[in-house]
Amino acid sequence: MTKLIKNGTIVTATDIYEADLLIQDGKIAVIGRNLDESGAEVIDATGCYVFPGGIDPHTHLDMPFGGTVTKDDFESGTIAAAFGGTTTIIDFCLTNKGEPLKKAIETWHNKATGKAVIDYGFHLMISEITDDVLEELPKVIEEEGITSFKVFMAYKNVFQADDGTLYRTLVAAKELGALVMVHAENGDVIDYLTKKALEDGHTDPIYHALTRPPELEGEATGRACQLTELAGSQLYVVHVSCAQAVEKIAEARNKGLNVWGETCPQYLVLDQSYLEKPNFEGAKYVWSPPLREKWHQEVLWNALKNGQLQTLGSDQCSFDFKGQKELGRGDFTKIPNGGPIIEDRVSILFSEGVKKGRITLNQFVDIVSTRIAKLFGLFPKKGTIAVGADADLVIFDPTVERVISAETHHMAVDYNPFEGMKVTGEPVSVLCRGEFVVRDKQFVGKPGYGQYVKRAKYGALMADQDVVKMS
Ligand code: URP
Ligand code: ZN
Ligand code: ZN
Repeated sequence: MTKLIKNGTIVTATDIYEADLLIQDGKIAVIGRNLDESGAEVIDATGCYVFPGGIDPHTHLDMPFGGTVTKDDFESGTIAAAFGGTTTIIDFCLTNKGEPLKKAIETWHNKATGKAVIDYGFHLMISEITDDVLEELPKVIEEEGITSFKVFMAYKNVFQADDGTLYRTLVAAKELGALVMVHAENGDVIDYLTKKALEDGHTDPIYHALTRPPELEGEATGRACQLTELAGSQLYVVHVSCAQAVEKIAEARNKGLNVWGETCPQYLVLDQSYLEKPNFEGAKYVWSPPLREKWHQEVLWNALKNGQLQTLGSDQCSFDFKGQKELGRGDFTKIPNGGPIIEDRVSILFSEGVKKGRITLNQFVDIVSTRIAKLFGLFPKKGTIAVGADADLVIFDPTVERVISAETHHMAVDYNPFEGMKVTGEPVSVLCRGEFVVRDKQFVGKPGYGQYVKRAKYGALMADQDVVKMS
């Protein structure tokens, strides 16, 4: 069935214009004014923007972590993502040392298959470089379309890899055409500081932030940039939280290095003082890197505006307060790190960014969708509104005012870190490959509809872009 979206204002990373969109076979077939309605289901988008579907480059769904498992799986997580205007996610596939990468990828496919309501891809965690890993990596790219590798520089004795592993991953990625992602914090020094804090009797959530100072994020970011330069490779720094890290990324980019940076909504609007909330509520705000002092927020907003940071990820890693965050009562190191953000990523950037004049409407689309598609091998199939692209679309009412709350969100967790925050703008309807997933704010999607997406190599366009023939 063809669909015709009429009377909306189309917004891409570069343009804003009034036009109708004709959707055929899941793709955008025609863009124009006063298109023929015959035979099409007409969707009226009067007063709304029509954006390319958001792409969330950073999610942890159904992931074992911190002695528990993230609460949102590929069903609840992607439903919440869709309500928030996201039509594709890229989730992190964890690996275990000594285990074939293929097995880890199979595990992640099993988590997502039959559950996801929107499209999804995987990044692959690299915890060691062995002959077996080196032999498997080309297949990971060619057969699985996984073209981004993640290295953790923190979480000592859990995920942390050493610098040699990071360097060899960068070298392999350059040869193979992949993008290396880093969690940049100095895990060894954090390990020392956390042990010392506990020895001194400091057990409250705020010590999570105090033992992971921004200098340690800046140092690790700078080290990763330096190793990227040496390897002549490409780097994407995830969840940048502070001025010190922005400075290192900007320095690398000024040298002409292929270094990219992502921040997250929590770092743009929340701050370190939230960790001091009474009754252990501070645990709800435990992320790594931690929330920073408020002045860092302006640095992050400016970095998004001037292009030193390019993307916004949710770092969706949700745990209930009851029973999960509470594991860390009496020992802040046992609080599972992370929070539920997938649903509010797009709206917060629109409301706090566009509406408050910090970024333009085109920048907003670039930051939540287009640039992510380009960096992670999804463009031009996804991330834009163009003839032949997937009809991944958000019909967005920019005027509606609402309050974020756990009572109305669609994530499976018992709190929302943005509880009570007023935002302007809301996705009304969301389509993935031409099918409604959310229609007039109601879920109409189907678990299992979401397709796994094999991504192109770093710097390449997606090869399977069909140009829809127009009659
Ligand atoms: O606190 C966080 N960020 N949890 C998710 C895992 C990670 O480090 O990205
Ligand atoms: Zn991380
Ligand atoms: Zn993460």
